[in-house]
Amino acid sequence: MSPILEVVALRKEFGGVRALDGVSFKVNQHQIKAIIGPNGAGKTTLFNIISGLYFPTSGLIKFENREITGLKPHLITKRGICRTFQNIQIFKNMTVLENVMVGRHCRTRCEFLSTLMKLKRARYEEESILAFSQKILSFVGLKDRAFESVSNLTIQEQKLLEIARALATEPKLLLLDEPAAGLSIRETECIAELISRIRERGITILLVEHDMNVVMEISDEVIVLNSGRVLAEGAPREIQNNKEVIAVYLGEG
Ligand SMILES: Nc1ncnc2c1ncn2[C@@H]1O[C@H](COP(=O)(O)OP(=O)(O)OP(=O)(O)O)[C@@H](O)[C@H]1O
Ligand SMILES: [Mg+2]
Repeated sequence: MSPILEVVALRKEFGGVRALDGVSFKVNQHQIKAIIGPNGAGKTTLFNIISGLYFPTSGLIKFENREITGLKPHLITKRGICRTFQNIQIFKNMTVLENVMVGRHCRTRCEFLSTLMKLKRARYEEESILAFSQKILSFVGLKDRAFESVSNLTIQEQKLLEIARALATEPKLLLLDEPAAGLSIRETECIAELISRIRERGITILLVEHDMNVVMEISDEVIVLNSGRVLAEGAPREIQNNKEVIAVYLGEG
């Protein structure tokens, strides 16, 4: 099976800082692949490049065998890649449901503005967006919160909402940047279970996460980044027993 995502010799420099230094890897269809590594390893920078927010210094990214390097973020979303952010990014002045509907608009034909103005041709589409968005809220467990203001949500609920909005774009590949950060053990278990359910729907997942229980439990393969380079790649158990990886996390000796 050909990989859904291929990252080839990716480099990113910020002034004198080499955030990514020749990173290459592949992600297979329907995999959960985790990226781990110490703070500053380059994990978020990698997501920023894949999702089109940053332009790489060199290297390329292929999605479904087509190059996407340097495409604008909305075009990358249209191709089927969506992401969540390490620092949650949702629209604070909207309801939960409206946040998900915004995500949905990238898959519909009418302009967002004409929908807002309730033009006739947009009305049917708006109804289908509403129904679709409600289904997704049920899927992530936020159905009862649909009409709440986002400001009433807990951190866990905000994270679920961000995932819901990403799912509303109908991604083939979902990039999750530290979905369990700041959550309790129980909330973390709930997120891990949700990620597995998302994969069961046929969506491939690239996951950046510091919580090793989550990583080891749900991922098929793990990549370890360190100082912008791939230090190791393999099955969770191999990574857990890799001496170099242990040294990076626990310090030499
Ligand atoms: N926009 C930017 N401008 C300048 N330097 C940046 C920028 N974004 C990232 N960096 C630098 O690139 C390196 C990698 O940062 P990045 O945020 O990708 O790490 P990370 O692996 O996501 O870390 P963390 O686990 O703390 O989230 C760091 O040295 C960081 O300071
Ligand atoms: Mg990060």
